[in-house]
Amino acid sequence: MATASEIAAVGVIGAGQMGSGIAQLAAAAGCAVLLLDADSAALSRAVASISASLRRLAAKGQLSQFGPQTACEDSIKRIRCVSTVQDLRDADLVIEAIVENEDVKKQLFVELDEITKASAILASNTSSISITRLASATKRPSQVIGMHFFNPPPIMKLIEIIRGADTSDEVFAAVKSFSERLGKSVICSQDYPGFIVNRILMPMINEAFWALYTGVATKEDIDTGMKLGTNHPMGPLQLADFIGLDVCLSVLRVLHNGLGDNKYSPCPLLVQYVDAGRLGKKRGLGVYSYAQKSSSLKP
Ligand code: 3HC
Repeated sequence: MATASEIAAVGVIGAGQMGSGIAQLAAAAGCAVLLLDADSAALSRAVASISASLRRLAAKGQLSQFGPQTACEDSIKRIRCVSTVQDLRDADLVIEAIVENEDVKKQLFVELDEITKASAILASNTSSISITRLASATKRPSQVIGMHFFNPPPIMKLIEIIRGADTSDEVFAAVKSFSERLGKSVICSQDYPGFIVNRILMPMINEAFWALYTGVATKEDIDTGMKLGTNHPMGPLQLADFIGLDVCLSVLRVLHNGLGDNKYSPCPLLVQYVDAGRLGKKRGLGVYSYAQKSSSLKP
């Protein structure tokens, strides 16, 4: 099994916001990155956003922590876009950032287990699904681990590492050092629903929806209250739009089902927005509208 310094080739599955941010971090840290997505348009968008993000960081001198070999253009060249799981056969570490659906993720882990080399570590960027259950789909549960990044990955300073029931000490140590190599601080969570951050964050977002639903205040006042009253960079409703209302709802359902307490029951307004396709910033409409520049909060 690869140690942190031996992790040279990283596979990232899913070229959405999270996957492209993770690919960017690994490339900037000097790894050869295989970015996998079946959708070639998603790969093109990812490469464009990675390039723009790296240039922004390079212009501010914020890539220097990774050393001179990681200049912006070199990082971009280290990313290769691929379209099949077979292309990941030589990866030392694979990080999946696909849809939050347990069955889909399990099927992917079955395929990764068959295709990747025996020493490869398999990581999930899941926001709340059990790492132990994902690991049970493989014949290498000791090499399966959670690496939970935060949006936007290039900016947020944290990686939450989740140990499944069988994750080995060696794999945990390798992934912890690798996360530090990416320039992140690390926290470690046991494998319980929502881990640490989402277990605390999502009830706050849900409560903000309840406050809106029951007419306590306007969306603007709820968000301004939490921004200025508790020094959060975004209000909870704006943050929910940023994360994606579908993702928030799915995490709350995992908390509700897994912990069996009604305090995690999703607010009907959040459910209704998702049912209506109001998924947040990515769809141009969530709690706020992002379609026009005149929307009530700067998206
Ligand atoms: N790449 C490079 N630079 C970026 C960037 C990116 N992807 N995104 C933002 N930046 C830079 C901007 O260029 C800007 O730099 P400057 O100050 O030098 O001009 C700086 O970051 C700030 O960006 P903006 O001016 O565009 O906007 P803000 O000041 O509002 O910051 C934000 C944006 C960093 C997203 C900030 O609003 C924030 O921290 N929000 C909270 C985010 C958060 O809580 N994320 C976690 C969500 S939970 C999660 O992800 C877990 C999941 O499981 C649900």
